[in-house]
Amino acid sequence: MKNAPIGIFDSGVGGLTVVRAIHDLLPQEDLIYVGDTARFPYGNKSPATIIRYAQQITEFLQKQGVKLVVVACNTATVHGLAALREQWALPVLGVVQPGVDAALEATRSGRVGIIGTVGTIQSKAYQQALLQARPELHITASATPLLVSLVEEDWLQHAATQLILEEYLAPHRAAQVDTLVLGCTHYPLLKGLIGQMLGPEVALVDSAENMARAVAERLRQDDLGHSNSKRVGTIQIYASDLSTQFANLAHRFLGREAGTIEKVVLTD
Ligand code: DGL
Repeated sequence: MKNAPIGIFDSGVGGLTVVRAIHDLLPQEDLIYVGDTARFPYGNKSPATIIRYAQQITEFLQKQGVKLVVVACNTATVHGLAALREQWALPVLGVVQPGVDAALEATRSGRVGIIGTVGTIQSKAYQQALLQARPELHITASATPLLVSLVEEDWLQHAATQLILEEYLAPHRAAQVDTLVLGCTHYPLLKGLIGQMLGPEVALVDSAENMARAVAERLRQDDLGHSNSKRVGTIQIYASDLSTQFANLAHRFLGREAGTIEKVVLTD
C-alpha cells in the first residue's frame, strides 16, 4: 500500500487548495482528486444527501486503490466523516480536526472565530470540537456563503468582496477574536484580503495547510509514505461535470497546470 495514491475529494474545485498543500508538503505522493462539480454546491444541502454523495465518491476512490481518503470539503466532513469511517476500513481524514488543533494552538485570548458554509456552521462541528478541548473558549461562528462565489469569480481583492467581508467579519471584530478559522475550501484564497482587514494580531487558520500536515502525520504513523522520497508524484483530477469553467478554475486553485481532467460517473 505504501506506493498507492492518496484520494482527495470535494464538492467542486475548492478542494484543489488541499491538493496543492498536500503536493507541496508531500511531492512524492500520487494524488487522485474528485470534484463533484455536477452536484456543487454542498454548502446548503441536507446532511443525508451529503452523506450519500460522500459514500459514492469514497467508493470510487477505493476502486482506484487509494491508501487513504482525505475529505477536503468542510461540509462533507461535518456531515459525512463518521459514516465514511464506519463503512470503510481504510483511513479517512476530515478537514475539521486539523483546523481545530491549529486554532487551539494559535489562540492566546481564547476568543476564536469560525466562518464556513451554512451546513458547516449549522452542524456546530467546529464549535463542539473546540469546546470539547477547551470548554472556556469564547466562540463566534458565522455562515459566510457568498464568499464561495466571489472566490470562483476571482474577486480576491475586489471592492465588493471587501464590502461583503466587512459585514461578515463584523461579529468577529466585535467579539475581539484573536484567531479565525477559515472553515471552507475556498477561503484560503481570501487569506490575503482577510489578513489585511483583520490585521496581523488575528491568526488565520487555513484548513488546507493544516490538512496537509495531518496527512503527513498519518502516513508516518501508519508507515504508509511512498517508498521513494525523491520522486515527484502525479495529480489525476476527476470531475462529475466537465466544463471549461472548471478547467480554468482548477488551474487557479491548484497553482499549476491541471493536466487532463477526466469525467467520473458517481452512482450508488
Ligand atoms: N467545499 C465546500 C466546503 O468546504 C464549499 C463549497 C460548497 O458549498 O460546496 O464547505
